[in-house]
Amino acid sequence: MTIAPPRKRVGVLISGRGSNMVSLAEAAQAQGYPAEIALVISNIPDVAGLERAREFGIATATVDHRAFNRDREAFERAIDEVLRVNQIDLIVLAGFMRILTPWFVTRWEGRMINIHPSLLPLFKGTHTHRQALEAGVSEHGCSAHFVVPELDAGPVILQAKVPVLPGDDEETLAQRVLVEEHKLYPAALAEVASGRARLEGGAVIRG
Ligand code: GRF
Repeated sequence: MTIAPPRKRVGVLISGRGSNMVSLAEAAQAQGYPAEIALVISNIPDVAGLERAREFGIATATVDHRAFNRDREAFERAIDEVLRVNQIDLIVLAGFMRILTPWFVTRWEGRMINIHPSLLPLFKGTHTHRQALEAGVSEHGCSAHFVVPELDAGPVILQAKVPVLPGDDEETLAQRVLVEEHKLYPAALAEVASGRARLEGGAVIRG
């Protein structure tokens, strides 16, 4: 009999509807999945994602950035404390709309991942679907990556592609990408939580 290693305790940071968080919570219900979604933190009170997390029986917390008078590190120290109290091993950013300081990112280096709705390094920042349509690309997609201090610049763990179709607008393209995000992110988290993908020397090491 092999004894499975303990599952990594994951804290998901959200700011809104939380559809990626739900896809992770669903994936984590499978036997043998190497992570459990132990906590969901939102920086905005009463967002739909918090309610959805509770429906899964996941502990939730709100750390409202507006309570910290633009002191980003104080806000992050508060988040860090909630993560510590809940014995969180890995952070998953899922639609978390605050830029994190180098202090926080360095503290969680190699233990924090994000999903970005483009094929990085293309289309960093916001409005990625608009950027893709304006650039006239025929393929678009999403990237799961380790978080580094520079925004959307972390080494990619996994990517998924979708076609850009004639007549697409931001909404149709976003929807097509989101379907892929919901498959990609649980797969990427499994890679990281199992240790099959690690951040070493600024690159993803596999195996
Ligand atoms: C997703 O498109 C994600 O890639 C981006 O923000 C969106 C969050 O959606 N970072 P949800 O809150 O997971 O539904």
